[in-house]
Amino acid sequence: MELRLRAGHTLASDIAVLTFAPRIFLPIRMLTPRQLFLRHQAQTSDSPLLLEIERAEGVYMYGPDGRRYLDLISGIGVSNVGHRHPKVIQAIHHQLDKYLHLMVYGELVQAPPAELAHALTQTLPPHLDAVYFTNSGTEAVEGALKLAKRHTGRTELISCHRAYHGSTHGALSVTGSEGFKRSYRPLLPDIRHIEFNDFTDLEHITERTAAIIIETVQGEAGVRVPENNYLQALRKRCLYTGTLLILDEIQCGFGRTGSFWAFEQFGIWPDILVCAKGMGGGMPIGAFIAPNL
Ligand SMILES: Cc1ncc(COP(=O)(O)O)c(C=O)c1O
Repeated sequence: MELRLRAGHTLASDIAVLTFAPRIFLPIRMLTPRQLFLRHQAQTSDSPLLLEIERAEGVYMYGPDGRRYLDLISGIGVSNVGHRHPKVIQAIHHQLDKYLHLMVYGELVQAPPAELAHALTQTLPPHLDAVYFTNSGTEAVEGALKLAKRHTGRTELISCHRAYHGSTHGALSVTGSEGFKRSYRPLLPDIRHIEFNDFTDLEHITERTAAIIIETVQGEAGVRVPENNYLQALRKRCLYTGTLLILDEIQCGFGRTGSFWAFEQFGIWPDILVCAKGMGGGMPIGAFIAPNL
């Protein structure tokens, strides 16, 4: 496809004319996966690794030539139990034989999500007893932010500089790195960023603030751990101002820090917990978890 401007017209005033070159049919077998990847898969990076992977098992990935790679990235915290964990594979097979999808808008009782919601709540403090499932982490963040605004009737949302919370518009608005956001403004209004681990910045959390969303351990920012009881001070400030504390454990939850949830190590609790990634053992799933009021 070629995008052209009509001759003699200026860029500002012209109407773009789309012309289509005839497509030459290429049987898929004439192109290698690498060629197909570069030609037809929208790229997220200017310089992709281009490592071709055919299968993965446990901590290893294997190329088409049988070459073995130790997977130190694990999908950024997705493959927490390794690739193709037998229990995950067994659960998928079991469900495939029953049904793939039914309406999910809360009308039909389905055992798998109900049982998963129960299992999740068993790992959490008793007030976190209602689970809303999503397909990804960023959607779970969207849900948590909306819930906080709706429950408090407030509009201000606070997050940390250098935080990463996802790439949809709401999650991007609370993401703390300008590089991710520059091209998409305007984003959500009434967002403020504070410094992670900075006690004086906690004063910016006020009675106007619906919620603060924070990674219990910052991931994208370079594995930054809360220091000197910072999370306890944050918890206290939220209780004082009636602000909801949303903990984003999409990357640091599900055993990444040694306890099931990272917040367990800091003696605090969230009002809303957001999780995804490792939760699916390779399947796309997320959730936000809050009190069933
Ligand atoms: C802390 C954190 N929050 C949210 C997200 C977004 O999750 P997803 O990529 O599943 O949309 C990520 C992804 O890397 C993340 O690390």
